[in-house]
Amino acid sequence: MDNYATRPPVPPRLSQGRQHASVGQTLLFILVSVALCGMTIEACLIYRLYQTESVTSASVSKIIAGISATATKLRSRVISPSKPVAHLTDGQDVVHAKDIMAWSTDADPLLYKIDYKDRSLVIQKEGYYYVYSKVSFSDNGIFHHRVDLRTEKFTGKSINLLKSRKYSNHFKHPEQSNSYLGGVFHLFKDDAIFVKVSNTSKIVRQDPTENVFGAYMI
Ligand SMILES: *[C@@H]1O[C@H](CO)[C@@H](O)[C@H](O)[C@H]1NC(C)=O
Repeated sequence: MDNYATRPPVPPRLSQGRQHASVGQTLLFILVSVALCGMTIEACLIYRLYQTESVTSASVSKIIAGISATATKLRSRVISPSKPVAHLTDGQDVVHAKDIMAWSTDADPLLYKIDYKDRSLVIQKEGYYYVYSKVSFSDNGIFHHRVDLRTEKFTGKSINLLKSRKYSNHFKHPEQSNSYLGGVFHLFKDDAIFVKVSNTSKIVRQDPTENVFGAYMI
């Protein structure tokens, strides 16, 4: 009995409590670790997502910039007109004949299914064309501006399509003026149209866009 009495009260419950506490601590540690791990992974994922997004948007804007630059550069080449068209201007390289005007080839003229040859626009495809010409001139006399046609059907003589005549009242001082001609004509393949003026040295040549000549199929 004594043995039992003197025995120090072994704390089985205490050790049990300790065991419980250590299990609890381990559980808490695992939980905290899992939570930390989760947060770390989440942070990594968010970072990666952000990186990918910014890279993607950067490359997308780069691609868009590239496309628009290329489009601007190639617009006049890639998008062909639906019908024959020509627009010619004056330029540094232009050498007029005495009365027949020449047009610039350096100025990158718009020429689609119409040729420019020997100061004339040469039709490639038969059809109805709107033909126009505008000139600036300085004259103190009578100035003629006309668009003529040279056709294989009437060899030798050219046919007048459009004509304007301007009379200056300032006989001593030449005055600057403009003439615009435009009209629709039925033209055949190999028909050549050209601009004729009374005297090409009266043409005002300050700006290449002041003197133009063009045609387009309607
Ligand atoms: C053309 O104009 C120039 C300059 O005004 C003049 O010297 C020349 O005589 C003119 N030519 C003709 C054929 O009228």
